[in-house]
Amino acid sequence: MKDLDQFLEQHREAFENDLCDLLRIPSVSTDSSYRKDVRRAGDWVAEQFRRLNFKTEVISTDRHPIVYAESAPVPGKPVALVYGHYDVQPPDPLNEWTTPPFEPSIRNGNLYARGATDDKGQMLTHVKAVQAWIETRGELPMQVKFLIEGEEEVGSESLNDWLEDPATLEKLACDIVVISDTSQFAPGQPAITYGLKGIAYFELKLQGPSQDLHSGVFGGAVTNPANTLAKMLAALIDDDRKVQIPGFYDDVIDATASEREQFAKLPFTDEQFQQQLGVTGVSGEAGYTTLERRWVRPTFDINGLSSGYQGEGAKTVLPARASAKFSFRLVPNQCPKKVAAALEPMLQKMCPPGITMELVDMHGAPGIVTPLDSPYMQAAADAIESGFGTRPVFIREGGSIPVVTAFSKKLGVDTLLLGWGLNDDNTHSPNEKFCLADYHRGTKASVYLWDRLSQLPAR
Ligand code: BES
Ligand code: ZN
Repeated sequence: MKDLDQFLEQHREAFENDLCDLLRIPSVSTDSSYRKDVRRAGDWVAEQFRRLNFKTEVISTDRHPIVYAESAPVPGKPVALVYGHYDVQPPDPLNEWTTPPFEPSIRNGNLYARGATDDKGQMLTHVKAVQAWIETRGELPMQVKFLIEGEEEVGSESLNDWLEDPATLEKLACDIVVISDTSQFAPGQPAITYGLKGIAYFELKLQGPSQDLHSGVFGGAVTNPANTLAKMLAALIDDDRKVQIPGFYDDVIDATASEREQFAKLPFTDEQFQQQLGVTGVSGEAGYTTLERRWVRPTFDINGLSSGYQGEGAKTVLPARASAKFSFRLVPNQCPKKVAAALEPMLQKMCPPGITMELVDMHGAPGIVTPLDSPYMQAAADAIESGFGTRPVFIREGGSIPVVTAFSKKLGVDTLLLGWGLNDDNTHSPNEKFCLADYHRGTKASVYLWDRLSQLPAR
């Protein structure tokens, strides 16, 4: 693999520049005012594949395009499908960024920009790895297909629709899916993630009087939607942090005793964790450790709240409306639709006279666990060792990648979650970064991955 190693060494700067080009495109999928930029990012990704002579398509959807590309078939060898996303979360709050979110900037060996780690940088490692193979050897040792979408951060709806088409499934047929959109366990300790949480995301809108009222003149007699909202949200969880939706825990599959033992052996302390996040303490569901709470227990979080006066100073107002966005992270076997079906009547029952409520089911996806004992896992662990110099640990994580379930159900294949990110990369928050050394180590691991996987039998 000397030729490939050398190619990677010689192209470090070029690969960094390419990533910066992509990071300059503000592909915020949730906000329709960025629609053209999202498309531009998709086209940029497609162009990367066209240059490698991959069969490349940009598939238009109701929202953001899907990029699909494949290298030449290699008969008798397994086929891999790399999934990633070129869309990003909104950069807000803007004034908390040290340098602007869409002007990539390097400090202390880290590249700062929205999407640096989630997922432009991580996704691009696989593109650069196939580029290394093509430009040194003229071909890959196995066929690699790429599916890079623009709606991951908003629930992957268009991709799910596209996966309904039997022709799509034929196109995507493969032996294994590879995704880099997760994290290492710690700096210097790479990981393979074998479990992700699912999600059920909602917006609750409460309407009271037809316009804002004087809170002294009308307060206490007219139902306040903000008070009601606070009460409803508080009722969703008890003091032990158990979610109160009827039947919520019925389908939960608990982590096994051996998993809990493995987690307990990982080098992790609450003190360090607190320090990293700048919090004075941690709390969560009674009876579980921090890693268990983060990786294997369902949770409830309010993601946004709005009502009443938000400006400077005091204003005595009884607001006309109140609304909240909130989500439940789910563990394997919990069904987001079932959660939604039980949540709506629970909230309706709590809705007092004078308030009308609307519950919007925004998106949902089930959680997953993947088998640890497959030859693909071993191949991936070897490749990571080649790229990072350390063998990976096996972890679960609390984030969600909605489409992984579809890959398992519809394509009948498992996914390798090979995360190059770090827990302090500030994903979804200001000053997102990606460690450039990890960008290059991830690329190297990917180069070796195709070599290792190509030595396994095809299905
Ligand atoms: N890269 C994340 C998912 C992730 C992060 C997995 C960290 C494991 C560890 C992904 O881009 C993401 O943020 N997904 C969303 C999905 C949601 C909008 C359906 C998430 O988890 O909030
Ligand atoms: Zn994300």
